[in-house]
Amino acid sequence: MRPVALNRRTLLSGLAAGMALPAFRIDTLRRVAAAASLAGTRPAGELAGDEAYWSEIQRAFDADRTLVNLNNGGCSPAPSHVLEAMIRDLKFSNEMPVHHMWNVLEPRIESVRRELAAEFGCDPEEIAITRNASEAMETLTLGIDLKAGDEVVLTNQNYGRMITTWEQRARRDGIVVKQISFPVPPRSAEDIVERFRSALTPRTRVIEITHITNLTGQILPVRAVVRMARERGIEVFVDGAHAFAHFPFQRDDLECDYYGTSLHKWLFAPIGTGFLYVRKEKQKKIWPLMAAPAAMDNDVRKYEEIGTHPAANHNAIAPAIAFHRGIGGQRKAARLRLLRDRWAKRLLAASPRVKVLTPLNDTDSCGIGLIQVEGLDTTKLQAHLWEKHRIMTTPIIHAEFNGLRVTPNVYTTLPEIDVFCEKIEETLKKGLPV
Ligand SMILES: Cc1ncc(COP(=O)(O)O)c(C=O)c1O
Repeated sequence: MRPVALNRRTLLSGLAAGMALPAFRIDTLRRVAAAASLAGTRPAGELAGDEAYWSEIQRAFDADRTLVNLNNGGCSPAPSHVLEAMIRDLKFSNEMPVHHMWNVLEPRIESVRRELAAEFGCDPEEIAITRNASEAMETLTLGIDLKAGDEVVLTNQNYGRMITTWEQRARRDGIVVKQISFPVPPRSAEDIVERFRSALTPRTRVIEITHITNLTGQILPVRAVVRMARERGIEVFVDGAHAFAHFPFQRDDLECDYYGTSLHKWLFAPIGTGFLYVRKEKQKKIWPLMAAPAAMDNDVRKYEEIGTHPAANHNAIAPAIAFHRGIGGQRKAARLRLLRDRWAKRLLAASPRVKVLTPLNDTDSCGIGLIQVEGLDTTKLQAHLWEKHRIMTTPIIHAEFNGLRVTPNVYTTLPEIDVFCEKIEETLKKGLPV
């Protein structure tokens, strides 16, 4: 991973130079600057529990503290200054869209592309900016040529919309979609690779793998699957909706040719942002979702031919990247794991009825965890936490398992985690109200 690129000096000199920042919420960046000076050069593990540091980060968000948001996996709030950069650009666009939006703001997508590529560790010519992971992944699913009888292998823990997209393709084009299953938690990374391997036949053309599942927060062995598939000439589409900027990795750690992600989850960019990575030599074989001229066949921008759209949203990815770098990927992941362990270990100790279906270590998971409470209906428990205590979690109901998905964020405070634990402990004792 690249080292933390922003420190107090670069941030403040940027502010002094009026570095395209919204003046009205400059204080939120000052929070990051203050946090950076508190952090110094301390390693991520040591900083993870430093509340003075994290309280500065917490205040960069306008979180409503009457609510406890433990569903940041669905979609995260953006730090205040990131949101306001977008609002500033929307207002500026509205003054004269044809000039301000198209001529002034839209060309700045190129610096966003450059910085995303630097974070992901690829060439900018391999990054297309999309509106979310669905658009990125569906570009791949619907954009690759496949014939009737060609086979695609997924797991039954891939994201629902992605499975739906493949199934629509099966109905339309006669391809065969195979879904493998694996236990939660998995037996081992090798077992997952083996399950994929056993599903392959000479007709397999594509594997779609989720980098980290939205269901349990399990990180899957992407590189091993990519290597195994490449030897057989099979393409691997990686759904990284929850992975990018959540925990540190780069393209070469995965060795993948295709990757789609959302940026409104863990990068904390405004809602409606994502990217698609397609390795240069593979671009010709993936058609765009919306048509582009033949001259763009080898140009990654063909995936951005979506008609009129706001420039403000994608340009506000830039301050979100700066905010992410200001914290640093390792530090962010270490804090998220500390928050995960705080609720998971306390509740596991509270009762043998509690099961955590997410392995609590640094290779298999990060900020997302799934808890199952024996004897409590998951949907009712989620509703109770929200309706009675204003604590937001996500009920996960899968054919093979279920539980509450808990996803704190860097702005989550320790007392918020503790109140969640207290309320679960209360229901363990008293049950759910009837
Ligand atoms: C694994 C996975 N893939 C894809 C998506 C779709 O993301 P978006 O709704 O941002 O397109 C999600 C959303 O939660 C997800 O968890």
